[in-house]
Amino acid sequence: MKVAILADIHGNFDALERVSEEVEKVEDVVVLGDIIGYGAEPEECVRWVVKKKAKAVLGNHEAACTGELSLSWFNPRAAKALLWTQEHLSSFAIRFIQSLPLVISDFLQALWVHGSPRQPIEEYIDHPFVAREVFESSPFSLCFFGHTHQAEAYVLEKSGRVERISFREGGKLGILPDSRYLINCGSVGQPRDDNPQASFAIFDTEKKVVEVKRVDYDISSASLKILRSGLPEYLAYRLELGR
Ligand SMILES: [Fe+2]
Repeated sequence: MKVAILADIHGNFDALERVSEEVEKVEDVVVLGDIIGYGAEPEECVRWVVKKKAKAVLGNHEAACTGELSLSWFNPRAAKALLWTQEHLSSFAIRFIQSLPLVISDFLQALWVHGSPRQPIEEYIDHPFVAREVFESSPFSLCFFGHTHQAEAYVLEKSGRVERISFREGGKLGILPDSRYLINCGSVGQPRDDNPQASFAIFDTEKKVVEVKRVDYDISSASLKILRSGLPEYLAYRLELGR
């Protein structure tokens, strides 16, 4: 079985449509939160997730939209974009967002979460020290997460060493039975690892291989929509930078 893993779409429907072409033939799609926020087409992105019958978890941007997380948690640009997003989502989309769980733990013997298993919508796993603490906090073997917008993995090897692997240019990772894994498949709609290409992954459950892919999409179209919408201009420029 092949499963597509998408995270941090962030209202970027241009990037999502491009990734959608790549995942047309997979059996299942999992979306690891932050479908909305920053980008100019949040409604379209939510409707794509619903139409795909994707399994999805709550991100911090969804939690802000439903009032579960205070806007004071966010930087001023993100908070401004969230207010804009709240005004541009239908009641259908809001109801869908409200229905999202914090964690999925009953699919493919893995944990699926936006931030981390111990703080599902808040914690950033962005360093081997944090990864080690997260490994120690919960007994999972395999966890897929998002939130940092960096395509990378942390592997706790049998020796006790935590290895960090970058997927800045994509790449494959074999899942071994005696190691433990924290895997971030990167961001579809706002990558921040100095590569502006959309990022996502395909998990081949028979071969036990996760392949992170990076694809070009029409960044100027997504940027222009942000500039025309009245969202903060920086949100358009950062797409070109991949930061
Ligand atoms: Fe995000």
